[in-house]
Formats: sequence, structure tokens, C-alpha cells
Amino acid sequence: MLVAIPRESSSDEHRVAGTPQSVKKIKTLGYDVLVESGCGEQAGFLDDHYAAVGARVTSDGNELWSSADAVLCIDPPTASDIDRMKSGAVLIGLLWPAKNPELLDTLRQKNISALSMDCVPRISRAQKMDALSSMANIAGYRAVIEAASQFGGFFTGQITAAGKVPPAKVLVIGAGVAGLSAIGTAKSLGAIVRAFDTRLAVKEQIESMGAEFLELEFEESGEGAGGYAKVMSDEFIKAEMELFAEQAKEVDIIITTALIPGKPAPRLVTADMVKSMKPGSVIVDLAAENGGNCELTQKGRVVKEHDVTVVGYTDLPSRLPKQSSILFANNVVNLLVDLTPEKDGQLTIDTNDEVVRAVVVTHEGETLWPPPPVEPSPVAAPKPHAELAAAAVEGAPQSFWKKWGLTIVVALVLVSSLLFIGRFAPASFMSHLTVFVLAVFVGWQLIWNVTPALHTPLMSVTNAISGIIILGAILQMNGDFSFATIFAFVAVLIAMINVTGGFYVTQRMLGMFRKQD
Ligand code: NAI
Repeated sequence: MLVAIPRESSSDEHRVAGTPQSVKKIKTLGYDVLVESGCGEQAGFLDDHYAAVGARVTSDGNELWSSADAVLCIDPPTASDIDRMKSGAVLIGLLWPAKNPELLDTLRQKNISALSMDCVPRISRAQKMDALSSMANIAGYRAVIEAASQFGGFFTGQITAAGKVPPAKVLVIGAGVAGLSAIGTAKSLGAIVRAFDTRLAVKEQIESMGAEFLELEFEESGEGAGGYAKVMSDEFIKAEMELFAEQAKEVDIIITTALIPGKPAPRLVTADMVKSMKPGSVIVDLAAENGGNCELTQKGRVVKEHDVTVVGYTDLPSRLPKQSSILFANNVVNLLVDLTPEKDGQLTIDTNDEVVRAVVVTHEGETLWPPPPVEPSPVAAPKPHAELAAAAVEGAPQSFWKKWGLTIVVALVLVSSLLFIGRFAPASFMSHLTVFVLAVFVGWQLIWNVTPALHTPLMSVTNAISGIIILGAILQMNGDFSFATIFAFVAVLIAMINVTGGFYVTQRMLGMFRKQD
């Protein structure tokens, strides 16, 4: 199949859906790749870079749209581009189906299988394809950079011969993906960062990034379905806004990212709050696309009111085109890997796969959006009380032997073996054996009850235990070719494997948290 990457139709869109690196990976899946000349220019990828990895470059847009079996794009294509596509072709991009019902109609009529990267469900398996998170992360970072360029001062505090400069104070409202990214960026620039979110679940994340979590004395959870926020009560919003009114007088920069899926952005920063801010302060409103969190935000524009700059850009990821193209292209490639299980250049759309089902918005002449909600892992339904009682009475004798029969047989075998060994083995052997059995039992219980998330740090602990084993085993080696020496040798060998593996895994884990040079 031929995969095509066109130039984005809007001149304001600087990203591209495929990079030379991603084209290389697409080719390993068995596809031919055709790119439109100049498609990656704004993101720093030249035609030569694409040609060097085996893509064919064309200046003929008509050829590209009409010959492609699959088109990768960022923004939805224009009606005339869709018109040029082959019936049955595949389109992958950010299609925003909720906002674009007419686009879905056009795609359905043209029998295009359209996959919308903004519909990737937020489940662990699909994280590698989650373009919304990739873009939100970049938007959060860029929001701080925009704020820094509008703000006339340092972020970090400085003491110079010429005088003392206090650090900038940043308030981040909404600590989802974009908010957390903004917190991390502002913090690394040296600012004092405070953050607020309706979901208390993010408190720990905010604090782990070195920011202060602002809390309200209010009993209401902001947790909605699927980890997203829900619409809060009027009383909560009022209390929250009182908090922001206090903060507005103190902070230099406010970055707002508060959103509720499918709803207009909550209005949280009033004109009066803006007026109360220090002259030269900055607000960056990441919710501008959905109506804005600030009353004075103008979508897509930078305005100055009461000597405060309000940034309402809606294209923040596109303002970091190289980075956002790389991440978006990686998300698309990861989706293509799942859609090409045989690596034979044939794209298979399996709507039984919950991730694929969620992203496919039109397929085989049908509109498949909205998808059914992604089911959480099934939990066994509790049996009604009456049913449980009946099972206890009727099935008791049979289920007892079924349940305990094997255990009783194993226990009998073990006890008779112990009696047999005890009859012939020396007394010291029996005491060692008892300690050994108890140690195995306690160790088993300890390790089995550790949460899987802590298994990697646990490797470090087992290293220490292995160290003790090695020491003990070395003391047992006395030069004789006895059983004790052989066992000690085997113990040292196995413990060494454990120690080496433990160091290796721990090193890799630490590497994940280490800053890259
Ligand atoms: P979003 O862009 O929809 O919302 C941004 C933030 O605004 C959210 O944290 C929300 O709680 C907050 N907010 C809403 N109303 C507010 C109000 N009145 N005041 C203050 N804050 C308010 O959210 P985003 O960034 O797309 O993700 C939200 C959550 O989704 C994540 O924190 C995470 O739990 C989950 N998620 C899961 C992923 C996965 O498992 N693969 C990937 C990405 C996100």
C-alpha cells in the first residue's frame, strides 16, 4: 500500500504528520511512502531528508491525494482534497469528530476509513498513540515560554551587585497533562509555582514536581468518568474563584488549562481579577479554543488589558513544530504498527480491537463515531445472597474435597517425608531445615504481597539479601570437595546472577529519572 504525507493546507499549521524518522519506520512495515514536496519544511525536515530514507517526493498534490491508499495528516483535509481521494482509502489525522459532523458525512459518502488521532482512548495500552497527551504536553511547555517572552522579568530569583530580584510567582489552574507540563517548565526556570485542580488525585503529582497545591476547604470531588474532571457545583466554582481572586493580586503569571471534555471551558478568571494583577503580569489561557478560562481572552490573539497581557493562542503545539511533529508522527507510527500485524504493507482495521474501534470514525460507508465507552477490566459480578446460601448447603461435601483434597495429600506427603528424614538425618540438619522452610515461607509472603509497581525498587532490596547469602556461602567453603562446598558454590553463583541483574535493572530505573545532558 502507498502511504502519503501531504503539505498541510493551512498556512498557520507548521507541523507535519510524518518525519524522516517515522517514514523509515513506516517503510519497515512494508509500505511505500510518497511525500509532498515541502511538507516538512516549516518543521525543519527537508525533501532531501525524506528522499534519503526512501520516500518518493512529489510536487504534484493531485497525484498524491489520488494515488494514496492511506493519507497521514495533522488537520482535517479540505473537501476538495477528500474528493480527490480513492474510495476505500484510509485517512489518519486529528479530525475532531465532535466538532466536525459535516466532515464525517463527506468521509462516509466517499467511503473513506477515517481514523481520528484525538479519539485514542486513555488506557495504558494506548498511551504510545495518545496524540492528545503529546500535544498537551507541548502546549503546557510552550505556554510557559510564551509567558516568559511577554513577562518583563526573570523567572528565577537573583541576587546581583545591582540589586535583588525576587523569583516570579506562577499560578497554574488545572493540572492535567498541559498543566503538569507547565508546572515542570516554570519550576525548572526557577519560578515559585502554585497549582489548583478540582481533582484531588493530582495533589501528589503537583507536589512531586516541587509546586504548592492550593487546597479549598470544600467537600466535593472533581473526579469524573475516565480520570477526567466533571462539572463542579456553583458553590465550588464560587469558592475556587475567591481563591483565584486572592492569588491574582500576588502572582505574576497565571496559566489556565481547566477543561471538561465536551463542555465549554469554565470561566474562572474575571476581568476584575485581571485588573487586580500587578502591572506587567501575564495570563496564558490554554482553554482559549473552548471559550477560555479568562473573561478577557480573545481566541488566537494576544491582548493587553489593565497592563496585563492575555495570551489566547490556540496553536501552541504548532509553535514548536519540530518537536510536535516528531511526537505526533511517533503516535501515528505506533498506531500503524498495530494496524499492520503482519508487517506486509497491508493495513487491517479490526473494529473488535477497543483502541481501533475508538479511533475509527468512518468505515465501509458508515459513521462509527461516537464509539462505545471503553470498558474497564471486567469485575466478577457478586452473586446474590440466596444463590450463595443454596451453593453452601447443596455443594458443601463435594466442594470441600475439590478445594482441599490436593492440599491434604501434599501435606501428608510432606509430613511423612519429614518424619523419614528426621529418623535418619543428624539433629543439626533438622534445625537448619526448619529455618530454611520458615525463611522460604516468610520470604514468599513478603514478596508476593508487594505491589507490582514496587517490584523494580524491590530488586535493590533483594540485592542486599543476595549479598548476605554470598557472605554466608563463602564462609561455608572450606576447600573440601564436600556437599556444603558444592551447595555454597551454587548459592554464590545464583546470588551473583541476582545481584548483577538487580544492579542492571536498578540502573535502568534510575536512568529514567535522570536528566539528559
Ligand atoms: P483536560 O485537558 O480535559 O483538563 C485539564 C485539567 O483541568 C484537568 O486536570 C481538570 O481536572 C482540570 N479542571 C477542570 N475543571 C476545573 C476547574 N473548575 N478548576 C480547576 N481545574 C479544573 O485534561 P487532560 O490533561 O487531557 O487529562 C486529564 C486526565 O486524564 C489526566 O490527569 C489523567 O488522569 C488522564 N489521562 C490518562 C491518560 C492515560 O491513562 N493514558 C493519558 C492522559 C491523561
